[in-house]
This record gives sequence, C-alpha cells and structure tokens, in this order.
Amino acid sequence: MATEAALHYTAAEFVPIKIEGLKEGDTKYWCRCGLSKTQPWCDGSHKGTGIAPMPWKVEKTQEAYYLCACKQTKNAPFCDGSHVKAKEEIGERAVKCKNKYNHKDCKMCTGCGWNPKLQF
Ligand code: FES
Repeated sequence: MATEAALHYTAAEFVPIKIEGLKEGDTKYWCRCGLSKTQPWCDGSHKGTGIAPMPWKVEKTQEAYYLCACKQTKNAPFCDGSHVKAKEEIGERAVKCKNKYNHKDCKMCTGCGWNPKLQF
C-alpha cells in the first residue's frame, strides 16, 4: 500500500474558502482528501482512502483565514495559489493514471486525484 505522501488528493473546489471566527488555540481538522461535504473541515469522508485529515491549531485570532479547498497547496491548510493550475494538473494526471479504467467504481482515485464530480 502506498504511503500517504505518495497519494494524490482530490479537489473540493478551485477557490479558497474564507473562514471567520477562529480563535487562537482552536484545534480544527482540515480535510486533506477533498471529499468532505463540510469544507474545509473533515466529515469522515476520507475513510477507505488511506488519507487522514490534518489537525491544525489556530496560531492567532484574526478576522479571516483563506483555507485551501483544492487540496493541492504546499502550505496546508492555507491557500498558496495552487488552485490556479489544480484542475489542469489533476486532469493531466487522470489521463495518464494507471487506474483510469477503474475510476467509475471509486469515490476518488488517490493515484491521480480524480473524483466523479470533476469534469475535464
Ligand atoms: S484553494 Fe488550494 S491553493 Fe488555493
């Protein structure tokens, strides 16, 4: 089985999510897989994917945080602008994915980041 570092995450959206009201010291569980219906937070949808949510302790109280929803950021849980190319990159991986013929039977493909809601 692949380690989580070798897995690809799928995108929930291709724009960051603005979150207000977080307080210093709050602990949140940021959805890592991209399947949660309560973005950007984990709702347990990752079960069976081999991917776990990322615990995040809020460093400071501030008006708003812009958290990544494309799940391709290199600075989780924050948006780093990776969403600009995320759809294209997932699409390119999906075309080359060795599991592409099994995509219709899965909720997401950790080999490329494809999920049934993404249209290319
Ligand atoms: S939403 Fe993922 S990097 Fe911006």
